[in-house]
Parts: sequence; C-alpha cells; structure tokens
Amino acid sequence: MGDAWREWIPRFDAWAATYDHDTGDPWLAYDAAWEFAARWLVAGLGSTRGAGREVAGSSLPAVLAGDAAESAPPAAPAADANRWAPSAVRGALHGAHVVDVGCGTGAFLRRLADLGARVTGVDPSAGMRAVAVVRVPEADVLDGHLASVPLPDRAVDALISTYAVSHLAPVEQPPAAAEMLRVVDGRGPIVIVDVPVVPPGDIPRVRDLLAANGRSDQLDWYAKGLGLDVPAWRSALERTGRRVVVEELGPLVIGLAGVGRIAGPGG
Ligand SMILES: C[S@@+](CC[C@H](N)C(=O)[O-])C[C@H]1O[C@@H](n2cnc3c(N)ncnc32)[C@H](O)[C@@H]1O
Repeated sequence: MGDAWREWIPRFDAWAATYDHDTGDPWLAYDAAWEFAARWLVAGLGSTRGAGREVAGSSLPAVLAGDAAESAPPAAPAADANRWAPSAVRGALHGAHVVDVGCGTGAFLRRLADLGARVTGVDPSAGMRAVAVVRVPEADVLDGHLASVPLPDRAVDALISTYAVSHLAPVEQPPAAAEMLRVVDGRGPIVIVDVPVVPPGDIPRVRDLLAANGRSDQLDWYAKGLGLDVPAWRSALERTGRRVVVEELGPLVIGLAGVGRIAGPGG
C-alpha cells in the first residue's frame, strides 16, 4: 500500500501525446471544472489578499470567453461586488503563485498563466510533463506527486489539482491533504476536482449511469472504491479554518474548494 498509483504512470506517459482529446470530454466536465476552479481561486485569493468578496460564477464563461468585455468600464462599484469582471479575475490571479499538482499536459496551467498567474506544475509522469513544458513554457514543471510536492513550506498562494487525487486510495488521501496544506501559504485556496468515491450501495446506480453513457469500462474504478474521499478532504481543510465548498459539476464529477475567510458584500 502507498504507491499503487505508480502502476498508472507508464500509461500516462504513453497517453500524453493524445491526452488533449480528453480535455474536451464533456463527461469529465472540464469547462465546469475550470469555471469552478477559477471562481474559488479568485474568491480565496481575494480574501487572503485582503480584497475579499463573495463571487458568483454564473457570468464567468462569458468573462473568460473573450476580450470584448475587457474594454467595459473597469470600476466595479460596491453594488457590483458580487459580479465577475475581467479586472476582478485578472486582479486576483495576477502575480499569484499557483501550483497544479497532477498537472498532466498543463491544460489548467495554460489557462491560469493566461490570467496572469505565476504557475508551477507537478506531475509524476515524464510524458505528461514533456507536453506541459511545451504548452506552458513560462511554467516551472516539476517531477513530484501528491504525497511529495517538491516545493518549500508555504511556497505558493494557491493550489489546484484536477482528476489526480482519485489515483490515490482513500487511505492515502489524508497524507496528500497534509502535503497540500504544507505548501500553500496561510489559508490560501485549495481547489480539487475529481470523481467521487462511490459507496458500495450506489454501485448499481453508477453501473447504469456508466452504461447509458458508454462508459462501462470505468465501472471497475468505482467498484474498487477509488475516487475523491470528500468527507476526508472536508475535515482536513476545515481543520485549517478554511470554508469548504462542494459542488456537483457533472454526474460523477465533484468540485471541492477550501478557502480562507470570504467576506460578504461590504464585509
Ligand atoms: C486524468 S490526468 C489529469 C491531468 C490534468 N490535471 C488535467 O486535468 O488535464 C491524471 C494526472 O494525474 C497524474 N497522477 C497520477 N498519480 C498521481 C499522484 N500520485 N500524484 C500526482 N499526480 C498523479 C498523472 O500522471 C496524470 O498526469
């Protein structure tokens, strides 16, 4: 026990060159994952950087879609504090150091860098890292993994991890949470997106769901009890004083964010 995930790495090495076909896979809800991640990174960075406000994500896709809105009046009056604006997104991320653990080919690193973040990627697959360094030349892309992130304590302002934690058995996830908490400064945001652990009683329902979507090959994954252990992550992050938000982003995709104090409008 402890490193069963390593068996997968040769597969990821081989998969890296074609992996991007999957990033557009609606089943994995990449767009919803990105919206969730950006929303809570901005909220958490805003609060830890002293500009805290609750943000609503509904208009984020439009915000991120193009530059047209960029020329809109920049000032966000207090009454608009709950609305996204390009200046708010870029303002919170600009210059923030964000690490993506299990960064794969760098899909999220690219988006974060485009919004002005300083980005570091960590992944145990050399094949995946080789694609990421080409896609995001400005990133530091490091060999490491969820239980061993090659960064000093409190090195980054925020952390994301998408579709990587589920490679760990649930028993390995609390040590990974401790490692994430080690590298994030203060109560900086930690955002995780992944498929959930499915309780044994729900396996028949998931079997039907997967079959209806042509994904029956994935049943074994859930039958083995693999997935994001939401209660474990919730308690690990809440113990640090973070507020934890959990959202269902797809039929079997969970977004979980732990963020420091979030002030309400005017708060
Ligand atoms: C499904 S891909 C997701 C990649 C990327 N985060 C994305 O969303 O496009 C899973 C990634 O997790 C990495 N991975 C597997 N086990 C890991 C571990 N224990 N720690 C960190 N990353 C791991 C793999 O090498 C692979 O790049």
